[in-house]
Amino acid sequence: MITNLKDKAQSPVLSPDNSSSSSALSPQSSHKPLRWLVTGGCGFIGLNLIKSLIHKGYQNLQILDNLSIGKKESLESLLSEFGPFTKDETKNQINYSLTLDPLSPQHSVPSPTDPLSPQSTVLSPNHVKLVIGDIRDRDTCIKATEGIETVIHLAAHAGVIPSIKDPYFDFEVNALGTLNMLYASVQNKVERFIVASSNAPLGNQSSPLSENKVPRPLSPYGASKLTCEAYCSAFYGSYGLKTVILRFSNVYGPYCLHKESVIAKFIKDGISKAQLTVYGDGTQTRDFIHVEDLCHAISLLISKPVTPHSSLLTSNSVWGEIFHLGTGKETSILELAKLIQGFFDKKIKISFAADRKGEIKRNYSDTTKARKIIGFSPKISLKDGVMEVYEWFRRRNVEDVENAQILSGSE
Ligand SMILES: NC(=O)c1ccc[n+]([C@@H]2O[C@H](COP(=O)([O-])OP(=O)(O)OC[C@H]3O[C@@H](n4cnc5c(N)ncnc54)[C@H](O)[C@@H]3O)[C@@H](O)[C@H]2O)c1
Repeated sequence: MITNLKDKAQSPVLSPDNSSSSSALSPQSSHKPLRWLVTGGCGFIGLNLIKSLIHKGYQNLQILDNLSIGKKESLESLLSEFGPFTKDETKNQINYSLTLDPLSPQHSVPSPTDPLSPQSTVLSPNHVKLVIGDIRDRDTCIKATEGIETVIHLAAHAGVIPSIKDPYFDFEVNALGTLNMLYASVQNKVERFIVASSNAPLGNQSSPLSENKVPRPLSPYGASKLTCEAYCSAFYGSYGLKTVILRFSNVYGPYCLHKESVIAKFIKDGISKAQLTVYGDGTQTRDFIHVEDLCHAISLLISKPVTPHSSLLTSNSVWGEIFHLGTGKETSILELAKLIQGFFDKKIKISFAADRKGEIKRNYSDTTKARKIIGFSPKISLKDGVMEVYEWFRRRNVEDVENAQILSGSE
């Protein structure tokens, strides 16, 4: 059953002080075997984050995903890259046990001095738990956050076009779903809550886009993401939940077969049609960030000590704050098309189609704040990063690429 706002009257009451809150529905366990919860962990960014966290030595990760877009087969294919695993499946839950071989070239062994590696000397066994559930259901969120220390909230109805088609659904998943996750996190005394936002709350504004611009969303997606941001700020202010809002620019990387984003689309079209279609003259620009750089920023945040309640106005605090994560570099769509064209060993045609109405001309992020406060420093060049994605696609079955369904929208 989906919990909606009508259930408010039966809501357990939250204490303004997170540290003294008690959960009427689900008392917090004193044992914390699963410390990190990734919602939407079977989606594009989620899978890459799970992989990156396992690489960095994080153990006992939990995923909450309703598998509307992400697939458990994708998660299993990713886990198999680390070696054999066993699984124990019940109705809405799958427990995976991995035994990581520290000598395997498939994964790096974190150094015992690596500050990002929480349990760097012990690598095996590692458990990944997939909870199949919907963030629109508050009780599911409460159960999934039991014993959790850090929530990385990625689950969403992603993309502008899908939100225009169904603004109510977009609201339910992005706004109500986030409120449920925040509420559950306070109930269960979660320490950190990191949420994926986007540039969409800002609308069509002059670049570089930064935290200082006044949001003016143009799409329901932008509005629902802005609502998420507002609730994060409110839950930090009212309950002391340590929230961080990350506004991602255009993210690319492997595990993007189901995505509509331009890099995934160009590579898929190159493989299946030997043709890339550029809308307009191709001079429109975007800021493309490799997902691994983004995952590294998230791991920097989850390795930060949780300091006592700090003011929203403290400039060097991360909690309750918004950060733009991108490269700060502009790349035109035509430049990108030519780069990808050059990877193929067959002839690839670049064709031009009419401008898309309302498309933003220039779009890139000012990442000064994230660099200064989080220590964010993207490293992967567009050429190397896109080549990696191209190679990832080349390792797929051609039929799988040709028949790939677009399930998740672009920014
Ligand atoms: N990919 C980008 O370029 C980009 C840019 C800016 C922001 N973001 C944000 O990053 C996050 C992750 O994006 P992505 O590209 O990985 O998207 P995705 O669509 O690939 O993944 C989303 C995941 O959430 C799950 N999900 C959807 N609705 C759910 C629900 N009601 N309950 C539980 N799980 C649900 C899906 O099954 C999927 O696995 C989103 O919040 C998105 O808005 C992405």
